[in-house]
Amino acid sequence: MPAKFVTSNAPLTALDVMQDAPVIPVITLDDPGIAVDLAHALVAGGIRMLEVTLRTAAALACVRRIAQGCPDAVVGVGTVCSARDVAAAVDAGARFAVSPGYTPALGVACRAHALPLLPGAVTPSEIMAALEDGFGELKFFPAFQSGAAAMLKALAGPFPHVRFCPTGGITAANATEFLLLPNVACVGGSWLVPADAVGSRDFDRIESLARAAAALPRN
Ligand code: 3PG
Repeated sequence: MPAKFVTSNAPLTALDVMQDAPVIPVITLDDPGIAVDLAHALVAGGIRMLEVTLRTAAALACVRRIAQGCPDAVVGVGTVCSARDVAAAVDAGARFAVSPGYTPALGVACRAHALPLLPGAVTPSEIMAALEDGFGELKFFPAFQSGAAAMLKALAGPFPHVRFCPTGGITAANATEFLLLPNVACVGGSWLVPADAVGSRDFDRIESLARAAAALPRN
């Protein structure tokens, strides 16, 4: 593992976040008490870039616990929708941000905090707006409802240098068709952290899912 990922506060780029493993797990947790064990299980399976979504009251506490208790992980936040979210995430120790969409205010806030951002974009105009502000590593969400692999292939024509992280409906069974596309750097998905495995504290299962995800082929 490159040293920059294990030393806290080392600069990280959005491309680093995308390229570390084929899958970024989308993690939604209600209990900060299990965050560190979960992070250790994912890291043991070979997945270090961890996206904790801001969809629960416990999310920022989970980010803080992982940042402090699992130094081999690089914890980021997902579902970031505002400059206020960015500030709170940085305060909790997040090292990257993922957003379902893009606004210039979000871009400015992430730049101000030197926080790598993977903003969401699916249409040519959305992609152009993100590119105009210097963001060329993008989340493609919701992947299936937005045209899936066929849409990504079409977007490679006008935007050959953009790298996407398709998310939404991706599973172990269909991830490869995305990962082999030349403009896909990684995929995102919640399948590595199933609610029933989290509920039963089945960290062995989560580690196995992470190990399989880390071994997925990609371009
Ligand atoms: C996301 O929140 O980024 C996606 O909704 C995750 O989608 P999935 O649960 O289908 O993996």
